[in-house]
Amino acid sequence: MSRKKILVTGGAGFIGGNFVQYMVDKYPQYDIYNLDLLTYAGDLTKHKHIETKDNYYFVKADIAERETIMALFEKEKFEYVVHFAAESHVDRSITDPGIFVQTNVLGTQILLDAARAVEVTKFVHVSTDEVYGELDFDPSTFFTEETPLQPNSPYSASKASSDLLVRAYHETYGLPVSITRCSNNYGPYHFPEKLIPLTISRVLNEQKVPVYGDGKNIRDWLHVNDHCAAINLVMHEGVNGEVYNVGGHNEKTNLEVVKTIIKTLGKSEELIEFVKDRLGHDKRYAIDPTKLENLGWKPTYTFETGIAQTIQWYLDNTEWWEQIISGDYQKYFDKQYTVNK
Ligand code: NAD
Ligand code: DAU
Repeated sequence: MSRKKILVTGGAGFIGGNFVQYMVDKYPQYDIYNLDLLTYAGDLTKHKHIETKDNYYFVKADIAERETIMALFEKEKFEYVVHFAAESHVDRSITDPGIFVQTNVLGTQILLDAARAVEVTKFVHVSTDEVYGELDFDPSTFFTEETPLQPNSPYSASKASSDLLVRAYHETYGLPVSITRCSNNYGPYHFPEKLIPLTISRVLNEQKVPVYGDGKNIRDWLHVNDHCAAINLVMHEGVNGEVYNVGGHNEKTNLEVVKTIIKTLGKSEELIEFVKDRLGHDKRYAIDPTKLENLGWKPTYTFETGIAQTIQWYLDNTEWWEQIISGDYQKYFDKQYTVNK
């Protein structure tokens, strides 16, 4: 197989980080460039064990800085772009939407211009099921690739905007793009502001776990390794101009997720604290992944096997998440929540 030069944006974050490690290990014959601004969500300590590998490179840059990005593409002539870099947390988008437009919309448009200038072989845009809005609680309804985009939060609106730009660059300029829209991920290196790692870290510290509203909202959970495999497949075999939904039919209420974690860790459900609901809180997400399955993908984890592996990972890697929750994160937590510590 010939050497390929692959740019992964957001490779210091949760999913991008797992994807970088997956690709560096799986394809020694590919050169993997991790471009990341290292915002609060970016962390390079997770890549210690691959830093010395010949096929891994790191570039610190902002995708929303046009001159830097254009110059980098001109110099490196990437063949593939897998675009994860984004502001990704819904709650932060509710308090500060501006940076979501800057990074997720403008940053994506600049990357598209750069990809066009060097005529990339493929641009994979990593998007989210949240662009479809919400479903009601009827378990027979799912998001398909044909579901209209009806984003409800500033985060999902910024992702939907970027999806439309990616689509337009394909229609207008013939840029070879594919878009993936995945459900909620979980697994190693998940930043502890998101429900699953927040719950694990707080339960381990015997702290209250904030559950929004009545805890009955439903998310469709996918282990991050299964998402990485899906993106790899789309990068190599996805049809240009097509969208692929990614999900493994693992629907759970938030309360079910929190109770599973508490039970696995042998702690008391008294740690649960119901707090005021998220503004515009989407009721339910659920993915129909048939199109991607027809391309050859299937998940390897159930929620039960995946959550057990993930909890064990957090038990084995306390120093990773403890260094995060001991810094600026604590200020964010205190501002966001009013739970009893
Ligand atoms: P994350 O917040 O953990 O990581 C985002 C990364 O992007 C960080 O390393 C950050 O430093 C970097 N970044 C932010 N702004 C940047 C900029 N201007 N220039 C360069 N780098 C910048 O996010 P995640 O959960 O890993 O999500 C990655 C992608 O996957 C996002 O596009 C998100 O919309 C999408 N997605 C996430 C999920 C999920 O459940 N987490 C599900 C579906 C899709
Ligand atoms: O569906 C894919 C999306 O999943 C991604 O596009 C986003 O980047 C990712 O952050 C995630 O969004 P959610 O809003 O679904 O994830 P979060 O972990 O923030 O919340 C999951 C559910 O748990 C949601 O219904 C809100 C609830 N929740 C969350 C937090 C942080 C709580 O009840 N308490 C909390 O403290």
